[in-house]
Amino acid sequence: MKKPVIAIDGFSSTGKSSISKIIAQRLELVHLDTGALYRGVTWFALQNCCRADGTVDIGELFKNFDHIHLEFRNIGNELVLFLNEINITKEIRSNEVSENVSNVAKQAEVREFLLGYQRKLAEKGGVIMDGRDIGTVVLPDADFKFFLTASIEERTKRRYQELLGLGITADEKQVADNLAERDRIDSEREVAPLRQAEDAIVIDNTDMSKKETIEMILNHVKNF
Ligand code: C5P
Repeated sequence: MKKPVIAIDGFSSTGKSSISKIIAQRLELVHLDTGALYRGVTWFALQNCCRADGTVDIGELFKNFDHIHLEFRNIGNELVLFLNEINITKEIRSNEVSENVSNVAKQAEVREFLLGYQRKLAEKGGVIMDGRDIGTVVLPDADFKFFLTASIEERTKRRYQELLGLGITADEKQVADNLAERDRIDSEREVAPLRQAEDAIVIDNTDMSKKETIEMILNHVKNF
């Protein structure tokens, strides 16, 4: 039986990844959290291509793509990200990575570097991929495209809770500022900006539970 290719885009902390993960389990699809890839490159850069002031040296990063091997593995139902065989699943959620990732992700060279990996994964179908440019750039021919949005207040609450759950110290105001700043950089960048694809179904889940959002998406894809 042929399985669908589903693109889930949207603003930070609208639940894209956790929702995609559950849908992947329900429909037996492969899930790719593309934000984790950009976070992985950023984590590498912070470790290896950093200036004295702690910011990423982008020129140095470009010289190091050959040393970045990112791979997702499914371990006990969890999507685990490895960078050069080291599990960095928790590290990529740190505040330091969140504060730098959008400036790394806006570089055309970085996007090009990650594009092949993303497209290759979708070649055989049966995939749900979440990010910012999946429906517009990575998989423009996806069978279904969804664009998730929610108020900044609600998204801040969700992200704050997520960080606490991961044992990462967080300050609500800092979380809100980071979300707003990432949304701004992601939407304003020249290459593959965060945009709703023309043929995407928009879901504002400010007042919806995760379960309701999942049911709404499943309802759209059920007749594939
Ligand atoms: O999804 P998540 O919030 O983890 O993504 C982190 C960052 O990675 C985003 O703010 C954005 O800068 C970048 N990103 C991107 N394109 C994607 C996925 C994420 O530019 N497809």
